[in-house]
This record gives sequence, C-alpha cells and structure tokens, in this order.
Amino acid sequence: MDLQGNIRVLARVRPVLEVERNSGQGTDVTEFPTEVELLVKRDEATRSAFEFDRVFPPSSTQEQVFEGVHPLIVSVLDGFDVAIFAYGQTGSGKTFTMEGDAANPGVNTRAMQTLFELGRQRSNDINYTFTLSVLEIYNESIYDLLSDSATTKGERGRGLDIRQGAAGIIVPGLAAVEVDSMEMVTAQLEQANKARAVGSHDMNEHSSRSHMIVCIHVNGVNAHNGAATRAKLNLIDLAGSERVGKTDASGDRLKEAQNINRSLSALGDVIAALATRSKGSHIPFRNSKLTYLLQDCLSGGGKTLMFCNVSPAAYNLGETICSLNFAARCRAVELG
Ligand SMILES: Nc1ncnc2c1ncn2[C@@H]1O[C@H](COP(=O)(O)OP(=O)(O)OP(=O)(O)O)[C@@H](O)[C@H]1O
Ligand SMILES: [Mg+2]
Repeated sequence: MDLQGNIRVLARVRPVLEVERNSGQGTDVTEFPTEVELLVKRDEATRSAFEFDRVFPPSSTQEQVFEGVHPLIVSVLDGFDVAIFAYGQTGSGKTFTMEGDAANPGVNTRAMQTLFELGRQRSNDINYTFTLSVLEIYNESIYDLLSDSATTKGERGRGLDIRQGAAGIIVPGLAAVEVDSMEMVTAQLEQANKARAVGSHDMNEHSSRSHMIVCIHVNGVNAHNGAATRAKLNLIDLAGSERVGKTDASGDRLKEAQNINRSLSALGDVIAALATRSKGSHIPFRNSKLTYLLQDCLSGGGKTLMFCNVSPAAYNLGETICSLNFAARCRAVELG
C-alpha cells in the first residue's frame, strides 16, 4: 500500500436511518460490487460508478473503518504530518465516523489509543510525548475548545489567529494539554464537545455548525542518540455541506451555512490547485482559516486521508453525487 503521494480517499455509506424508513424516505440507491467500488443508482437504467481506495458499506463497523486509517497513525510516530478529514453533506455520518458514541467510539479515540500503544511498544528506543489541542472554526473564526473561555456561541471573543512559525503553522495562545492516558483524552474531548457549536435543522437534529479539529502533537526523542522527531496528527470533522434551501435556513443558521459553504469551496479550490499545479504555482491556502491551518499537511511531505461520508437514501441523491465527485477529484491529487 503506497501511502505517500496521493490523497487517500475512503468512502463510507451510512445505514438508512430509522426516521427515514418511517417517513417513507428509505429507498436505498447504493450498491457495492467490490471493496473499492461504489455504484449509485440514478434511476432504473442509470448508475454512476465511483472507485476509491476503499468503500465501506452501511454494515461496516467502527473497527473496520479504523483499519483503513491505521497505517497513517503509524506514520505520525515516524515523523509525518497527517490530516484525516471527514467530508460530506449534513447528516451523512461525519461526526459518527470521527467521534462515534460511547458504545461505538470513532477514529479520534481509536487514533489516540493506537498512538499510546505504539509509543509504549517503542519506549525502549524512543520516548514520546503527546499534546492535545482541540479547536473549531466557526464563521471563519478560530475558537479554542479546551480553554475556559470557550463557552457558548455569542459569548465568544474574536477568536485566535494563525501564524506561519519556523516549524510550521501555529495558533498562538491555543491550549495544548499533555496527555498520556485515554482517561485524560476522553475527559478533554468531552469538554471540547460541550463547547462545540451545534445546531438543529430539519435534516440533522445535532448538526455540527463548525469544523472541529483535534490536533495531536507527537514529539519523539531517541533514547540512544538523542535525535528528536516531531509530527502532528489533525483529525477534522468538517461541518456539513448543504443546500441552504433544503435545510430551511435563515438568520444565524443562514450565515453559518454561507460560511461553511465558503470554506468548503476554499478547500475544493486548494485541492484543485494542487491537482493541476506546476512547480512554484500559487496554491490559495490563505483563502480560508481551514486551508491555512492545514497548509503543512496539504503541501507536500504530509499525508492526507479523506473520508467521504454519504447517505444511501434516494432523496439525498444530488448531494451524494456531489460529494463523491469532490472525493474523486481529491483522489487524483498528488501531494508531492
Ligand atoms: N455508520 C453509522 N451507523 C449508525 N448510525 C449512523 C452512522 N452514521 C451516521 N449515523 C447516525 O446518523 C445521524 C447523523 O450522523 P452525524 O451526526 O454523524 O452526521 P454529520 O455528517 O456529522 O452531520 P452534520 O454535518 O450535520 O454535522 C446520527 O444520528 C448518527 O448517529
Ligand atoms: Mg457532524
């Protein structure tokens, strides 16, 4: 499995939800001919075919999904900057994939667990320390979800800045907590989740209105020669892309949706520029907080994986095709 170079893309189709079935919106339009192919039925006669590095059908467990990510977590300990995104329309399963729930923990906690385990296995040779930061980008402002100041929407200050430091992109003032056990991680993530901007609209009762980024800095010191390595793992639960009309948005909700759509299209622009770039050409990283923050991971040397989360339901067909097309474009990008 060649992990370097391209953006790896894993598609995950969530199950038809109870509410969809009950309201007669449960028609499933997805088919899974192989582990890497996904067919979407547009009508009785037409199917759109997609190929990704892996396709996870609705029956996939959180364990199976994490298997697809595991090699990149190993890379972090080897010194690579890694970004793992969940992209997709509202209600498609991004938060479920990254966070999960208590009974079905998602990528975030499994990644931390793996880092701790591998770190322990290597502890005779390398001494690792892990620091955790959690932030969200809400209406193009960055908020620290671990600091005490991170309270509910509206009471927030103007947010934090991003700077280009000597060792990469930094957010001055962002809390960074050293963690060495899952208990500590769980406690921190719980606090962060309480502070995250979440709203309710017609399509998802607990919809994420911000991009949430869990960032783990890994520092390693070689016990034999003192050589130091440094890397970061960014775990990104994006806010849902949606059509403003379909979620019946107005006021604050409309402003949120516009900011979300703007930053997701900035991400798309960066990916398009990376895909077609020639040496020295301009990549518009600074057009959004999201892309600026992830510049290190996206600009060569780093490794990126994207989950494309989609709904299987016929009434989401338009968004599903849009998301899969976006993901297919990402897959063509070489990171250098
Ligand atoms: N693989 C899955 N198995 C079971 N339930 C799932 C799965 N994926 C998603 N769900 C359920 O579907 C609903 C919507 O999922 P989720 O909140 O993760 O969507 P989202 O993509 O984060 O949406 P938004 O962009 O609005 O935040 C939730 O109730 C979640 O528990
Ligand atoms: Mg969400």
